[in-house]
Amino acid sequence: MSMNYMFGISVFLLCLVLLNIYFFYNLSTTKPTPLIQSRKAEAMQNVHKEINDHFAHLKKQYKIKTSKFIPVQQALIASLNSTITELENIWNTVDNWVDNESLFPDKNGDPGRILHAIKSSPIALVDNAPKGTQLKLLLILESKQKVLFKPKRYNLTEVIKGPVYAGFDRYNSEVFAYYLGMVLNMRWIAPAVTMRINVENDILPVATLGLKNTMVKNEVGATCIYGKCYYCKINETVCPDNTGVLEGAAILYLEKQFKVHKSPWRRSYSRKKMDWEKDTDFCKKLSHTLSLQRILNLIDVAIFDFLIQNGDRHHYEVYKNRIVILDNGKGLGNPMVDILDVLAPLYQCCIINLQTWQNLQLLSGGSLTETIKILSSFQGEKLATEEHFEAIERRLLKVYATVQYCIEKYGTEKVFKHNIEV
Ligand SMILES: *[C@@H]1O[C@H](CO)[C@@H](O)[C@H](O)[C@H]1NC(C)=O
Ligand SMILES: *[C@@H]1O[C@H](CO)[C@@H](O)[C@H](O)[C@H]1NC(C)=O
Ligand SMILES: *[C@@H]1O[C@H](CO)[C@@H](O)[C@H](O)[C@H]1NC(C)=O
Ligand SMILES: *[C@@H]1O[C@H](CO)[C@@H](O)[C@H](O)[C@H]1NC(C)=O
Repeated sequence: MSMNYMFGISVFLLCLVLLNIYFFYNLSTTKPTPLIQSRKAEAMQNVHKEINDHFAHLKKQYKIKTSKFIPVQQALIASLNSTITELENIWNTVDNWVDNESLFPDKNGDPGRILHAIKSSPIALVDNAPKGTQLKLLLILESKQKVLFKPKRYNLTEVIKGPVYAGFDRYNSEVFAYYLGMVLNMRWIAPAVTMRINVENDILPVATLGLKNTMVKNEVGATCIYGKCYYCKINETVCPDNTGVLEGAAILYLEKQFKVHKSPWRRSYSRKKMDWEKDTDFCKKLSHTLSLQRILNLIDVAIFDFLIQNGDRHHYEVYKNRIVILDNGKGLGNPMVDILDVLAPLYQCCIINLQTWQNLQLLSGGSLTETIKILSSFQGEKLATEEHFEAIERRLLKVYATVQYCIEKYGTEKVFKHNIEV
């Protein structure tokens, strides 16, 4: 009896001590202003809700095609429906290209010829491209052009679950991005095309020793590559299919000097919230450190990224004072999810380049994905499943809805900005 009593007291005291520790721990780790923080989080949530309300009540004009797009679409088709070429001529055009609107030749059939030339030029050398976090190869063509090759890691039907930055890069996202850039008229982007390379015939004979050192045979005797990069692991190889072919995205390499900047809207990769996720005045503060031109440029790129959900642009490269739309492999992961955060630059700043807005409006009613399907068909490419194409159309409506939200909040005068020359 008294033993039981003593035991009861001991348990009770132990509980008290544990509770104390628990409360003390909580007190010492709670943020100083929890109420304000939760209000701010709430304000952010409300923005998403308001945008979704606009999305649910979008005007009909955003859901039907406009005939104004027809000539634009015809010009795009003319640019990409061309394959036969003298390889030397097209590389000369590329090498001597100077333009303020497009990083590479973008008219008169040149884009189609460039894609064709990338695919059909003999490969003179293959090496690891060790920069970056993911497995890439550097191909040097006989014409001396450099091409980055990102191998296929997933089937088109595979859905990548998890955070927006989850998984390996998607080769089809890289290729899709080039066509998307062409259609959106955001042409500070490198040509990219699906390429199939035979490992034994086209890679091994011209592989550097460094690359050969990162190759292993798999159980059926095929030569697989694990490469050299931040996340490359010997047990995570890419292997050719049963015909010996490695498929992937071939992206024309930019022989330019960039300036690299951290994105103000980059993610924390942890539970810690970044300033842009907490601070409702984030964009206003940003305007003290970045030019309006740069902010508008970041907003353009955010719209681009949102459409394919390429939500991991932690850094960005600038050439001639403009953001190069480089590294687009994290798109096309999950067609069921639209992470609205990727649009934060747009709904937090609530401004948009008027030219961008006019281009976006031309693409309503299915024209956007219809055109990408046509343009990629010239290279015989199927770049995504129907679910992804539908998702992109749905996200375009969400971009329209976000601009409507901004107009309602601030008025058209404040929202639309004329392109200021740099
Ligand atoms: C592409 O070009 C080919 C050959 O010139 C032509 O037959 C075809 O109709 C064109 N495709 C489109 C969609 O215009
Ligand atoms: C390109 O921009 C530069 C400087 O910004 C300007 O001097 C030049 O005229 C522009 N060229 C074209 C073709 O627009
Ligand atoms: C991709 O699809 C092929 C054929 O449909 C299948 O054999 C293969 O296992 C799939 N690969 C992955 C990684 O799901
Ligand atoms: C490869 O090995 C690493 C540990 O070195 C492990 O974390 C990873 O899950 C492995 N990957 C696969 C696909 O087995």
